[in-house]
Amino acid sequence: MVVSGGDAPGINAVLMRYAELAEASGGHVVGALGGFAGALNNQIIPLSPTLLAPLAGLAGSFLPSSREPVLRTDDGRAQLLSLINLHHISGIVLLGGNGSLGALLPILQELGIPCIGLPNTIDNDVPGTERTLGFDSACNFAYPLANGISQTARALPGRIFTLETLGGDAGLLALDIALGVGADCVLLKEYDYDVNWLGQRLQKAVARQGYALVVHSEGARDSRTLPDIIYKITGIRVRDTRLGHAQRGAPPTHLDRMLAVQMAKIAYSALSNGVKVGVVVVRDGRVQLHEGTLEGLHTPMPDRTLYDSINGFAT
Ligand code: F6P
Repeated sequence: MVVSGGDAPGINAVLMRYAELAEASGGHVVGALGGFAGALNNQIIPLSPTLLAPLAGLAGSFLPSSREPVLRTDDGRAQLLSLINLHHISGIVLLGGNGSLGALLPILQELGIPCIGLPNTIDNDVPGTERTLGFDSACNFAYPLANGISQTARALPGRIFTLETLGGDAGLLALDIALGVGADCVLLKEYDYDVNWLGQRLQKAVARQGYALVVHSEGARDSRTLPDIIYKITGIRVRDTRLGHAQRGAPPTHLDRMLAVQMAKIAYSALSNGVKVGVVVVRDGRVQLHEGTLEGLHTPMPDRTLYDSINGFAT
């Protein structure tokens, strides 16, 4: 088992469930400490349910991850092949986001190493799947904070609040949160906005309900300086909250725990049945195996209709 790229709530539940399945059928699971970079340094340890149980319900990852692209070189690939032989590894379960799965699955396929990818990222931006592991937890994390903001917002009218989500360049996380918490505006990298429109929309919201709430993804234009920009154009006091990495370490929700269990089960059965390369995806709400890499799969975009309706563009 290898974790690559940003961690996401639910990874530990996958590791735990996979170790349980292996133990029940007399198999052995090992994990890389530090992604493929760790593996190439021989940082490989046995995983067991007993070892993983205390962390199974927590965010983060028992197996540290890495973003180092060590398999880009011929040397790295040769090292991996010899490790696979040394440890008698019959297949790899790779937990990663868009970047890791997109880059690594074709390499492992070319090397002839069976591999099942599990899309795990709070960003929800992996092609071919409706939901990635960790997304639901990251969305849920925002609710108590947004509730807190609206309580104080109502108690002392006359302010604008900004709430920044993680998500990298993908706005799917911010869009769902904006819709769920009832934001007055949502700003995403994918759809540019006009600053004058923003100012007017927020001023109107303050006039109508006493405050305004903007949810913006960290990748949206001018995300870092947004509070200053808004103050400059509206003259209204602006208070900002950044969910930051606390959001990535959010407690795994019921939906993510369920997804983790199903991902582990499907990956285990795929490798046991000789599948060479695959990705566990959610399609039409059902968790299933997609045989192949991510190539040719549709990259998700934030729903334009939802975006328009939150921002008041819809007719
Ligand atoms: O894994 C995706 C993600 O959590 C993004 O939402 C975020 O922009 C990025 O990782 C942060 O990465 P790092 O932890 O390396 O700063």
